[in-house]
Amino acid sequence: MKKKLFITRKLPAHIVEPLHSYFDVAEWSEEEAVIPREKLLAAVKDCHALWVTLADQVDAELLAHAPNLQIVSTLSVGFNNIDMEAVRSRGIIATNTPDVLTETTADLVFALLLATARRIPEAERYLREGKWQGWYPLQLVGKDVGGATIGIIGLGRIGQAVARRASGFNMKVLYHNRSRKLVEEQQYGFHYKTLEDLLQESDFVVVMAPFSKETEGLIAERQLALMKKDAVLINAARGGIVDEVALYQALKDGKLWAAGLDVFEQEPIALSHPLLTLPNVVVLPHIGSASLQTRTAMMKLNVAALVAYAKGETVLNRVDS
Ligand code: GLV
Ligand code: GLV
Repeated sequence: MKKKLFITRKLPAHIVEPLHSYFDVAEWSEEEAVIPREKLLAAVKDCHALWVTLADQVDAELLAHAPNLQIVSTLSVGFNNIDMEAVRSRGIIATNTPDVLTETTADLVFALLLATARRIPEAERYLREGKWQGWYPLQLVGKDVGGATIGIIGLGRIGQAVARRASGFNMKVLYHNRSRKLVEEQQYGFHYKTLEDLLQESDFVVVMAPFSKETEGLIAERQLALMKKDAVLINAARGGIVDEVALYQALKDGKLWAAGLDVFEQEPIALSHPLLTLPNVVVLPHIGSASLQTRTAMMKLNVAALVAYAKGETVLNRVDS
């Protein structure tokens, strides 16, 4: 008898098709809607394999509803949606989608940085709203990116790809990371800094660290106060790393020039959120890896992991070890 797989989103048929040879596949059927928690808990009841997204919490409660579960694959590189202790204690395999999204996500980070520095969304709204009466010297003036100092918090794969792009813009690249990256320092001239020094010296601070107990609330009131008044904060990692209340206050009080955010503490962010009232905040709906090529490659990594599990072969991209 085939093992049971549940997929928490509607995925393209050509992606799911190979899985039918190995699994009895059930999937959430609504294209854009996220599966409600109660439906997810009911759906995992007899499944052996589960394919989730970063918006689905795989925690002790879910595992208690899934006594047969042996593998969970997440369609993301970050896996903070999976309670690793709970998964490990049950011997469940967990896999993610690293590498294939690195360059695409770094492109988006740079797009967000440029959009924030040069006030692109605001400028477009200005034109479409009929406010463009003519050209004047200080109209919609922003900040220079080329030649500025960028400080990257978390010099992992994506952080490094952002840093290489920054080098192409002739930026001075500072970084803070749990461990020194001596090879990259030598090869590309990146400079290691303490978090405090990085915050004080950077024109652009980019948060690229994974979300964990150590990074939760890493950028709060005290850290924002260290930043230059005309600096820009970019977060494309996880919302919980930056304290949104403190960020709102810093931006509102003119202690920070602007912020570009692809991630939020609560996703989707409520339209009534105070951050959305500020013109100097550029917001995106968590689209870091959203190119068709990359999302396809990510899905294929999940399929490969699930198929390897079903065939009893070595499963790649495990994060449970
Ligand atoms: C996106 O945030 C991911 O973790 O892939
Ligand atoms: C702007 O378009 C310029 O020519 O300076």
